[in-house]
Amino acid sequence: MTAAALAGTLPKHASHEGISRMAPPRAQRVLIAVTGGIAAYKVPELVRALVRAGHAVRCCATHNAAQFVSPLVLQTLSGESVRTQLFDPEQEGEIDHIALADWADLVVVAPATADALAKMAHGIADDLVTTLLLATRAPLLVAPAMNVNMWRHPATQANVATLRARGVAFVGPESGMLACGWEGEGRMAEPAAIAAEAERRLGAPTLAGETVVVTAGGTREALDPVRFLANRSSGKMGFEIAAAAARRGADVVLVSGPSALATPAGVRRVAVESATEMRDAVAAELARCTVFVAAAAVADFRPAVAAKQKIKKEALADDAGLVIELVRNPDILAEVARAPGRERRLVVGFAAESEDVLAAARRKLERKGCDLIVANDVSRSDAGFDVDTNAVSFVTAQGDETLPLLSKREVAERLLDRVEALRAAAHDEPR
Ligand code: PMT
Repeated sequence: MTAAALAGTLPKHASHEGISRMAPPRAQRVLIAVTGGIAAYKVPELVRALVRAGHAVRCCATHNAAQFVSPLVLQTLSGESVRTQLFDPEQEGEIDHIALADWADLVVVAPATADALAKMAHGIADDLVTTLLLATRAPLLVAPAMNVNMWRHPATQANVATLRARGVAFVGPESGMLACGWEGEGRMAEPAAIAAEAERRLGAPTLAGETVVVTAGGTREALDPVRFLANRSSGKMGFEIAAAAARRGADVVLVSGPSALATPAGVRRVAVESATEMRDAVAAELARCTVFVAAAAVADFRPAVAAKQKIKKEALADDAGLVIELVRNPDILAEVARAPGRERRLVVGFAAESEDVLAAARRKLERKGCDLIVANDVSRSDAGFDVDTNAVSFVTAQGDETLPLLSKREVAERLLDRVEALRAAAHDEPR
């Protein structure tokens, strides 16, 4: 199939009937965990902002936090009782602490002290708040606030890195005059900024109207009916991108090589094996596609001939090796970037590199004609193939941005932030 064919009309079998168009899952229940810093006095503003946005809000506070902000104020604004103790017979009767951890769709820790970050990083649960943070399965959004030297301390930075790698999201801290008299980084983000970030995490439909096609996983190139050439891609990176795009209200098609991962909610999965099957599946979706993300590890070559029967070593001379001729596979990403309708579409590629990562990614950006390349150093043991974390750089014609080690879920969120910014810029361009 040629690049022109890639732009062909949607074939009948690719009908979108029956796909659960992602009604944005606006999760509504926010648990605010307040720990003991002076910035706690701003939490009532955060409660008000989230309540005004239509969310159910509950608060819990450490003993120290209750010195800085009155639980009665939080209770009045949220309309819910505020828990401060792990073992309180009265409150435990109302909603037990595990039920509270399960209740939340999102937990916001604001302010998060250095002590709270350390306990979270090390799984310490020695009061109500830290127990809730350990017990909850909801995503965590953390707004640190502390003295600049505490923030910069290697112990705190190591704790932050651990939490980020586990998928915990951060907002702030900001720089400025601190309550302790020092100036620098450590001020809690403003309540409005925390609320906006919480809204985004709750699934605001910022990609509604977009059709996002994501390739994921590795391809299998058949040698014979039982053997194939493959690679170590698990599909984790691409599946996280598809899941995050669906949470943001996009129509999402996930064209995936073989992967044991479950299909994310609200995503239509098209299962393929080989690179040519992947290319055909992408072609079938392209007419509607407005954002294409190529996270798959596509085999560049396939055996020239896939034997119809199992290749038998007895058919070879005793000391003879087996020589396999390989031919090139189509470059799906480059074809999509050249396909007609390009002006309607944002094209994002990945670059799996093991040396000179940024330079190689810049060359790929140009050669393949993408708007954005996500470069990852696959020689690292904590990034790239078949791990839950990734360390990536975003490479565009305008410049590069290198992110710290993050969970693949967080990388997906950051990537979609970039996608949204690029889409917004494209819409603003004069036609
Ligand atoms: O799946 P995981 O275990 O989570 O691992 C994630 C990952 C390492 C696979 C992912 O982060 C990643 O880097 N994906 C791209 C892997 C790759 O094939 O990179 P590449 O540098 O060889 O290819 C560059 C780009 O061209 C990629 O977007 C690739 O999808 C695309 N390509 C490559 C060859 C080809 N024939 N067709 C393509 O579309």
